[in-house]
Amino acid sequence: MLEIRQATGVDLPRIIDLLETCQLPTEDVPGIVDSFFLARTDSDVVGVIALERLTSVGLLRSLAVPPQFRERGIGRRLCDHVIDSARAQGFAYVYLLTTDADGYFSHLGFRVADRAGAPEAIRATSQFRELCPESAKLMRLRLTVWSRSPGLSEE
Ligand SMILES: CC(C)(COP(=O)(O)OP(=O)(O)OC[C@H]1O[C@@H](n2cnc3c(N)ncnc32)[C@H](O)[C@@H]1OP(=O)(O)O)[C@@H](O)C(=O)NCCC(=O)NCCS
Repeated sequence: MLEIRQATGVDLPRIIDLLETCQLPTEDVPGIVDSFFLARTDSDVVGVIALERLTSVGLLRSLAVPPQFRERGIGRRLCDHVIDSARAQGFAYVYLLTTDADGYFSHLGFRVADRAGAPEAIRATSQFRELCPESAKLMRLRLTVWSRSPGLSEE
């Protein structure tokens, strides 16, 4: 049985260990541990994800599932959980940066966005400024519902 719960300070070593295993940045993680969620079975931590709250948008980051637990839908469950949370908090968009998982996130509805047009709140994050390379793609998912006029794209 999989449970997803919010992390606390005691989870920090396990989060960092898992992110390092998955070769994701950890430098700023101690300062945002409250933004993390853990997927747990009775005996293991089988995934982590974070959602940073930045004014009216969220930044999804640090999604990691240990190699031995992949391809079972755990990553998808974690993403769905934070997207639901972002929607419940009234965010207009969820953004993320990724170097090689853009195909994964496009299946979840994220679309590549222009880095130059990123909101200031996203540009100010350490992920955007320092931790992700310039080559990382910026992606976003629109959460707000609006009435669509013919000819307008879904972005
Ligand atoms: C990306 C990751 C979280 C996926 O976790 P998971 O629990 O295996 O994912 P799910 O079970 O929900 O989905 C598996 C599907 O995604 C696909 N997938 C996995 N990684 C992918 C990637 N980088 N690009 C495109 N598709 C990918 C799998 O091939 C599989 O496809 P299928 O359903 O058609 O067989 C995991 O591979 C991981 O931890 N990777 C290293 C860290 C990382 O890249 N994180 C994302 C950037 S923040």
